[in-house]
Amino acid sequence: MTRAAVWLCAALITVGGAAACAAPVSPATAAAIAAHPRAAEIWGDKCASCHVPVEPGTRTTEALRAALAKHRSRARITSAEWDDLVEFLAAAPARTAIPPR
Ligand code: HEC
Repeated sequence: MTRAAVWLCAALITVGGAAACAAPVSPATAAAIAAHPRAAEIWGDKCASCHVPVEPGTRTTEALRAALAKHRSRARITSAEWDDLVEFLAAAPARTAIPPR
């Protein structure tokens, strides 16, 4: 298990109980954590206190930007960190057969 996975596991235990940890981290989440370690840390730290954390690769960039614009006062992190977080969470455009509109 990678360090990031161990860390995520610890975060999930805090948030949702040990059961969440029995499930392996999805490939999309593992790849996103490896590519954006700082955003992953913020995500584990701040993004599950009000709702179930939004999983990497499950929202479009547009949806994330719109949602996170409303989050500025909810999690106090810098603009660069917000941008990193959007990239961390956004679905990779190359992973869909449907061309972007
Ligand atoms: C203080 C509470 C709070 C925190 C902390 C918080 N959220 Fe939210 N989030 C909300 C609420 C409330 C909504 C419902 C829609 C709205 O009012 O924005 C929401 C909605 C969302 C949505 C849109 C709905 C969806 O399922 O796509 C996304 C994406 C999201 N949050 C991501 C995040 C991320 C990423 C973080 C960590 C930086 C975060 N949230 C931290 C309260 C919070």
